[in-house]
Amino acid sequence: MKIARLHKPAGLEHLEVLDAPDPGSPGRSEIRVRIHASSLNSHDLAVVLGRLPSADGRIPMSDGAGVVEAVGDGVTEFRPGDPVVSCFFPGWLDGEPTVSDFATTPGDGVDGYACQLATRPAHSFTHSPKGYSYAEAATLTTAGLTAWRALVVNGGLKAGDAVLVLGTGGVSIFALQLAKHMGASVVVTSSSDEKLERARSLGADHGINYKTNPEWGAAVLDYTGGRGVDHVVEVGGSATLPQSIQACRTGGHIAMIGVLTGIAGNVPTGSFMRKQQRLQGLIVGNRRQQIEMVRALETTGIKPVIDQSFPLSNIADSFRVMKAGSHFGKITLEI
Ligand SMILES: NC(=O)c1ccc[n+]([C@@H]2O[C@H](COP(=O)([O-])OP(=O)(O)OC[C@H]3O[C@@H](n4cnc5c(N)ncnc54)[C@H](OP(=O)(O)O)[C@@H]3O)[C@@H](O)[C@H]2O)c1
Repeated sequence: MKIARLHKPAGLEHLEVLDAPDPGSPGRSEIRVRIHASSLNSHDLAVVLGRLPSADGRIPMSDGAGVVEAVGDGVTEFRPGDPVVSCFFPGWLDGEPTVSDFATTPGDGVDGYACQLATRPAHSFTHSPKGYSYAEAATLTTAGLTAWRALVVNGGLKAGDAVLVLGTGGVSIFALQLAKHMGASVVVTSSSDEKLERARSLGADHGINYKTNPEWGAAVLDYTGGRGVDHVVEVGGSATLPQSIQACRTGGHIAMIGVLTGIAGNVPTGSFMRKQQRLQGLIVGNRRQQIEMVRALETTGIKPVIDQSFPLSNIADSFRVMKAGSHFGKITLEI
């Protein structure tokens, strides 16, 4: 089978696509999956660039979608022919968070899904939504579940809520789609007026260019009549959090998801306290939440936005495109 491996020192020029041995038949409680697609995330980019250390020879990519080829003894949840999608935390099945690192995350602490075949414990996957392509399903492992958890699980999103999403990357566009389908209004920020137009075509109610309007927190307050939004999907981190606190209503919820602007910084703790907001850090979610999200996607008919797709042989180029930041929504790999 074909795989991609990341050699030391990490870097796009050290991503090699090569032949590797078949992973074999599934043992007890395992399934063998033919992987057809993956999708790119900032986390995968950090691994392949060496910003997050990983083992020499690591197979990258946290996201994997494909079809079950065989099941081992004791597996009752899946049958050969079932379309499946991988889990970001294969060992966090349900309940409160039990993980605070990436030691068990495919494509980081363990081998990922830049491979044509994977034999893994059955709980490393869930069913994919009916009617999804493999590429669409592959976007759910990380970006989809993060957006779902931020808004629905932690945020308790309800019709009539106002949501702010920062930028137009994979997590934010998924959050926009979820929020609109669930009856919320959505404000989007972007560095590009063209991307804001695309976001409007997906249902965004209002767009703000954060480059030409660096005081976008005040602009969101204005747009919401001084009330602020109920939820912020905060992917920027330290440099955007002060504006997000301003944009969020008194008693509102900020999902601290990303660190695109840095991992530490000054927080206006006085404003945050006065506004009695809730700041919730999160890393993706558990397997139970993924199962519930899949059911919701089948009911709502939401389909992820895929900007571009690359064959596995061009995996390094796919990351170059992600690094350049011109994408809208997701970039995927056909495997
Ligand atoms: N905690 C978790 O579980 C989790 C899960 C997934 C991702 N993340 C993190 O969330 C962040 C986004 O991930 P992603 O996969 O959605 O990335 P992505 O697809 O690469 O999207 C990045 C987008 O963020 C926007 N952006 C960049 N700098 C910004 C800023 N200063 N203000 C507002 N928007 C900005 C840009 O949008 P425009 O081009 O429109 O300006 C850019 O296209 C990353 O830090 C990632 O590591 C965390």
